[in-house]
Amino acid sequence: MSLNGKDLLTLIDWTSEEIFEVLSLAGKLKKERKEGKDHYLLKGKTLGMIFQKASTRTRISFEVAMWQLGGYALFLNPQDLQMGRGEPIKDTARVLSRYLEGIMIRTFSHQEVEELAFYSDVPVINGLTDSFHPCQALADIQTIREYKGDLKGLKVVYLGDGNNVAHSLMLACAKTGAHVVVASPPGYEPQREVVEKALQDRLDPLSQVDVTNDPRQALEGADAVYTDVWASMGQEGEQEERLKVFQPYQLTMEMLKEAKKEAVVLHCLPAHRGEEITDEVMESPRSVVWDQAENRLHAQKAVLALVMA
Ligand code: CP
Ligand code: NVA
Repeated sequence: MSLNGKDLLTLIDWTSEEIFEVLSLAGKLKKERKEGKDHYLLKGKTLGMIFQKASTRTRISFEVAMWQLGGYALFLNPQDLQMGRGEPIKDTARVLSRYLEGIMIRTFSHQEVEELAFYSDVPVINGLTDSFHPCQALADIQTIREYKGDLKGLKVVYLGDGNNVAHSLMLACAKTGAHVVVASPPGYEPQREVVEKALQDRLDPLSQVDVTNDPRQALEGADAVYTDVWASMGQEGEQEERLKVFQPYQLTMEMLKEAKKEAVVLHCLPAHRGEEITDEVMESPRSVVWDQAENRLHAQKAVLALVMA
């Protein structure tokens, strides 16, 4: 199986086998790095990184990933590019393809990333759009697997906004055999097309892909509990209204009692303590958020090494 040249845009067109390939390489690279072994799999290759939105984890983990793989990462601020002055994406894509071996982009509209990938000759990696965050989901399932073993049959419950993170988590869980339940307030559920796609692509035809408005019921028997901010980047204007609507979905120690005793807690970060999650839950021994953040580096190294080989 060769993933060379493949875009990572949504996870929709990545098979279960390809996702397991990433997890397996990510685990190997993580172990090797901790043993002090170098793995210069992308020597002499350059990744361009376009960021239309703020980032701590994605920017730093991609930059370090390229360095550890023996390549180079170029941070591109759209305000400094001609793109910021109106040069079309389709032109930018073809020009960048002549200099770079890969492009990572974080932006608002998912359509922009699709267009960039369509016109680009080198692989394009989605570093978050309003609709999907596939790199996050790969690190998420890597983390769950490290703590809970085989993903098949595990119950992963996401509380809150049916957003980019929820969409990608649903796809990643379904494709690796885990049950996934998203509990959101009415009107804030994940997009139906994404839910249908996740259902269609389930590795295990008996696994659950569910959406509910009842957070407590969703949490019953959960092996992993996940939450994310209530107002994503670009939704700052809705913050006040969302604070009210999402209150019953806050992840508290009390809510966590509904899950299995040994359930782990995940959050893609940045977290808003006192909103979607309490400080107590974030700091509790159940929280694996720092390992999860670390795994962004390892999962992305695996993706880069496979698609830019
Ligand atoms: N989780 C995540 O993507 O974090 P950043 O926004 O800091 O990149
Ligand atoms: N849903 C959040 C994730 C941040 C990593 C956002 O889009 O802002």
